[in-house]
Amino acid sequence: MHSATYRLNALFTFAVLPLAVMLLAASFLDAFHSPSVQAHAQIVKINRFTKRNGNDEVRLSLNISADLQSLFTWNTKQVFVFLTAEYETSKNSLNQISLWDHIIPNKEQAKFQRQVPNKYPLVDQGKNLRGKEVELVLHWHVMPNTGKMIRDKMSLSSFNLPEAYS
Ligand SMILES: *[C@@H]1O[C@H](CO)[C@@H](O)[C@H](O)[C@H]1NC(C)=O
Repeated sequence: MHSATYRLNALFTFAVLPLAVMLLAASFLDAFHSPSVQAHAQIVKINRFTKRNGNDEVRLSLNISADLQSLFTWNTKQVFVFLTAEYETSKNSLNQISLWDHIIPNKEQAKFQRQVPNKYPLVDQGKNLRGKEVELVLHWHVMPNTGKMIRDKMSLSSFNLPEAYS
């Protein structure tokens, strides 16, 4: 009774429509999901504060605790999280230096507390760090199975670097 084209079309619709609806629902649910991230980060110790090749360089120990479990939905593939040191200089209104990062593969591992040395050194483009006020900011990228990546951040604390090199 029906033409082959019609049947093919019906088959296509049958197969693709549920998938489309599912993808749409996933994005829709994500849009209405409002996570509540809790996090703290503090400088435990300044291990070294030096000037190298004319640039200030800091090595330090951080105490990071975070609960990012609310970022995980059934559509979450993984969460990339990184901690930056942010400060202002006369040259740049925002200097943003990544100190530590981590990939969280699942909800079970999204709540943690750890003491770590900075993975990447805090190096200034100059000699601006003595006595400088630095803000610690946690950034996260939620990578979904389908739909848009969500980026957000949260300011955690601030501290002042020493007035003198060590
Ligand atoms: C690290 O942070 C956790 C949670 O904020 C706190 O309970 C712990 O005492 C801190 N440890 C140090 C060495 O600061």
